[in-house]
Amino acid sequence: MKAVVYNGPRDVSIKNVTDAKIEKPTDALIRITTTNICGSDLHMYEGRTSFEQGRILGHENMGQVVEVGSGVDRVKVGDYVCLPFNIGCGFCENCEKGLTGFCLTANPGSAGAAYGFAEMGPYEGGQAELLRVPYADFNCLVLPEDAQEKEDDYVMLSDIFPTGWHATELAGLLPGESVAIYGAGPVGLMAAHSAIIKGASQVFVVDTHPDRLALAERLGAIAINGAEGEAVEQILNKTNGRGTDRGCECVGYQCCDRHGHEANHLTMNNLVASTKATGGIGVVGVFVPQDPGAQSELAKEGKMAFDFGQFWFKGQQIRTGQANVKAYNRRLSALIHTGRASPSQIISHSLKLDQAPDAYKHFDARDDGWTKVVLKPAA
Ligand SMILES: NC(=O)c1ccc[n+]([C@@H]2O[C@H](COP(=O)([O-])OP(=O)(O)OC[C@H]3O[C@@H](n4cnc5c(N)ncnc54)[C@H](O)[C@@H]3O)[C@@H](O)[C@H]2O)c1
Ligand SMILES: [Zn+2]
Ligand SMILES: [Zn+2]
Repeated sequence: MKAVVYNGPRDVSIKNVTDAKIEKPTDALIRITTTNICGSDLHMYEGRTSFEQGRILGHENMGQVVEVGSGVDRVKVGDYVCLPFNIGCGFCENCEKGLTGFCLTANPGSAGAAYGFAEMGPYEGGQAELLRVPYADFNCLVLPEDAQEKEDDYVMLSDIFPTGWHATELAGLLPGESVAIYGAGPVGLMAAHSAIIKGASQVFVVDTHPDRLALAERLGAIAINGAEGEAVEQILNKTNGRGTDRGCECVGYQCCDRHGHEANHLTMNNLVASTKATGGIGVVGVFVPQDPGAQSELAKEGKMAFDFGQFWFKGQQIRTGQANVKAYNRRLSALIHTGRASPSQIISHSLKLDQAPDAYKHFDARDDGWTKVVLKPAA
C-alpha cells in the first residue's frame, strides 16, 4: 500500500510499504477514504518529538471496513467508520471511566495510545491506503447513511471537533458565558464552533494569521489579532476590564510571540491574565515532558515560567490533556447529521495522498490559506 512515511525532520515521502492487515481477532481493517494532516503531526514533522524514522503518520482517519477479525461482532464489512485518534481497549480502569485518551492497555507502561504518533504505542498511522484498527468493536464509530455525503464533516470526529469541544469542557464553559480561545488553527476554530453551539455569549479567538482569524469570524467569533496589539489588553477592553469567564489553550508548547519567537509560557500566562478571577482554563494544546529542541533551559525539560502567583490569587482552575474522543464523538456525530454542526467549513485543501509531502510543507509554514488539509487515498 502507499503511505506517508516520516524520514526525518521536515522530510516525509510517499512510499510503498507492507499492507496493513488483521493481526488480532479483535481488529478491523479499514480502507481509508479521508485522512487529515493535523497540527499535532507538525510537532513530529519538525523533529520535535521522538517519532521514529520509517513510521507512517496519520491519526485523523475515516474509511470503509474491508475485513474484520473473528472476534469482531458489531462492526461489519462495508460500514463507514470514523476512528478516534486515541486507541482504547474499552475494559481498563480509565476506559471504563470514559477516559479513553489514557487507556492503560493499548500502550503498556504508559497511559494513552494513538495511530501514527510519538510516544503513543507502535500503531501505524492512517495517511495510507489501509489501516489496522485494534479493539474494533470499541473504537469504530459507525456512521449514518449520509457518511459519504458528509464525509468531510464526519472525518473531523476523529480528533479536532471533539478536541475543540473538550477544550470548552475542560474550561467549564456554560451557556451564556464568555470565552477566549488562543489559537485559530483547526483546533481553536473547532473550540470556537463548539462554544457557539453551546450558547456562549461572547467567543474571542486570538491568533496573528488574518486568514485563520477570518474563518473564526465566519464561525461567529470575535477575532483578536495579536499582531495588532497585546491580545490580553484587547480582550480586557472588550469585557469591561474583567476578562472572560473561560479560556482555552489551543496552541501548545510551540506558541510564539508576535515576531514568531517561541516561548512555551506565553499562552498560559495570557490565559491567566485574560480570564476572570475564579474562571476556568482548558488546555488541549500539546505540552511535552521533554523538548530538547527548545531554546530555553526550562522548556528543554518541559517546564515553563508560569505566573502561578497571579493564577493562585485569581482562584482559577486549569484542566488539561488529550481529548477523550469517544466521550463526545457519538453526540457530535448527531449534530453533524442534523446540520447543527459543520466542521468541514474550515477545510482549505482536499488533496490526493501523493500530494501530502507538499501539503506538509505549506501547512507547517502556516502559509496563507493553508488551514486544514484532508487527504483522499482512495481517490
Ligand atoms: N489535546 C488533544 O487531544 C489534541 C488534539 C489535537 C491537537 N492538539 C494540539 O492542539 C494544538 C493546536 O492544533 P492545531 O491543529 O490547531 O495546530 P496549528 O499549529 O495549525 O495552530 C496553532 C495556531 O496557534 C497560533 N499561535 C501561535 N502562537 C500563538 C500565541 N502566542 N497566541 C495565540 N495563537 C498563537 C498559530 O499562529 C496557529 O495558527 C497543537 O498543539 C496540537 O498538537 C491536541
Ligand atoms: Zn490531530
Ligand atoms: Zn483502556
